[in-house]
Amino acid sequence: MLIKSIALCSLLLALALPALAEVGWWRSAQFYQIYPRSFKDSDGDGIGDLNGITQQLEYLKEIGITATWLSPIFTSPMADFGYDVADFYNIDPLFGTMQDFDKLLARAKQLDIKIILDFVPNHSSDECDWFKRSAAGEPEYKDFYVWHTGKVVNGIRQPPNNWISVFRGSMWTWHEGRQAYYLHQFLAKQPDLNYRNPKVIEAMKDVLRFWLRKGVYGFRIDAVPHVFEIAADKNGNWPDEPRNEAVSDPEDYTYLNHIYTTHQPETIDLVYQFREVMEDLDRELGGDDRVLLTEAYAPLNVLMQYYGNGTHNGSQIPFNFELLGNVNRESNAYQYAELLHNWLDNMPAGQVANWVLGNHDSSRIGSRLGADRIDATNMLLLTLPGISVNYQGEEIGMTDVWISWKDTVDPQACQSNEQEFERLTRDPVRTPFQWSDEAQAGFSNGASTWLPLASDYKLVNVKRERGIPLSHLNIYKQLRALRDEPSMQHGDVTISAIGPNVLAFKRSLSGHNSFITVWNINDNVEAVNLDSVFTSLSSQLKYVVVNDKSVRRKNDLTYANSLLLMPKEAVVLSTL
Ligand code: GLC
Ligand code: MG
Repeated sequence: MLIKSIALCSLLLALALPALAEVGWWRSAQFYQIYPRSFKDSDGDGIGDLNGITQQLEYLKEIGITATWLSPIFTSPMADFGYDVADFYNIDPLFGTMQDFDKLLARAKQLDIKIILDFVPNHSSDECDWFKRSAAGEPEYKDFYVWHTGKVVNGIRQPPNNWISVFRGSMWTWHEGRQAYYLHQFLAKQPDLNYRNPKVIEAMKDVLRFWLRKGVYGFRIDAVPHVFEIAADKNGNWPDEPRNEAVSDPEDYTYLNHIYTTHQPETIDLVYQFREVMEDLDRELGGDDRVLLTEAYAPLNVLMQYYGNGTHNGSQIPFNFELLGNVNRESNAYQYAELLHNWLDNMPAGQVANWVLGNHDSSRIGSRLGADRIDATNMLLLTLPGISVNYQGEEIGMTDVWISWKDTVDPQACQSNEQEFERLTRDPVRTPFQWSDEAQAGFSNGASTWLPLASDYKLVNVKRERGIPLSHLNIYKQLRALRDEPSMQHGDVTISAIGPNVLAFKRSLSGHNSFITVWNINDNVEAVNLDSVFTSLSSQLKYVVVNDKSVRRKNDLTYANSLLLMPKEAVVLSTL
């Protein structure tokens, strides 16, 4: 009898296993973005580093992270804090050595956390060897970048056209050595690689192969829409971009409509090619599949093509910026519901959704929507179906730190002026991570930090929040634990705005408990009837996660048809 049931069990297991393997580790994973300069400083220079990350990997384990993507750690003059890569094959000394990186990989492997690197295909640093050789006209590298001798108007030399860089001013900079202009969609210190040269594509694929063979599990690809510019005409010229009449500042990026320098059709094919490299290396190295996360601020119909087109696979995780880009303090439940649907309803069959609420380029949630909405947005992030992508510090509710013009270091802001920098600066979201109430928030034991600390770090930090039952951190951890439930992993979602103030959605899977996330977005007390919007609820529901606005506690019961919500209360309920 015993033998029989063991045999039956192993048979069932064998049947179950292939189904599990099909799922793919990333399909319901928790991704965490580390901004290495600001995560943890191990050597007291006030700037975070790789050994610091290694020391704190256990924290990622504590909060249930599956994989972490690191903003660039490669050799760089740091004009754009690492997004200007001078050597795609090496670690910047500021962050450590290749040995330190190997140690980080080894520790991550022990803890079963996957390391994902930032891959910056659009440009290199002007200090990259490739650029120096290109500027010198070496045959192999001559066309690695985009060069043009410019035009002469009334005897005065001018850039080839009117294109404006993302970071203000002309997209063209004159190079004395080469006696030509080079194109840069970002800073002059970030010359664009020439993707119309197949050698460039091959060189960049080699970069991917190198890091995959070292043991990383994929890449977050930077600024993808900018990679291709329109092909030059037969005389080697590019057309001017049309004006955006709404903007009057001729130096500002938004002064033009970027129809020739973003979202060129070749871009999608390039993503497919990069994915092919991932799949080649899956075959070569075996083990869990490698992933691509792509950063593209693009129209939905374009983004959906990033996933693949039926014949080619693309990015498994084209970042979903629907929420990040479109909600503000005034957004109501109908708008939230629509934004959630935008992604879910347009996604190609068989793909997985992802939810992104922050990154090193955008204002923090607590500052954007109000600190009293932090837990609710983490609830969305972690109870919607698919992949969650969390920026460091959002789980403890860090907020933007105001930094004066004098102390501002972000090039996007520094290229502007004292009147405009606050609209552009990304420094406020890049300040040191708040580990504890000790000196430098436990981030560094040095005398200063590269960006100022948040003034509230004694209240908002990991150490303190560990001890407060309904802190942002502990709510985050409870939500994470809930994700192991079958209905969270594999269940459907039904989304409903119950009036303008209450957003609710139900996750359900036949044969398992359903979970209902309910958020009172505003400041009225709301009474809602969940039976009016969801089917097959039990008449009573159990609170499984509450926030600090709730008067109810975990495990309390409520009637589904008369749920009372306090101002800004956000809860997850379960069927009985
Ligand atoms: C991406 C990065 C940003 C960087 C830019 C240029 O948008 O997220 O931080 O400045 O690309 O590489
Ligand atoms: Mg480009």
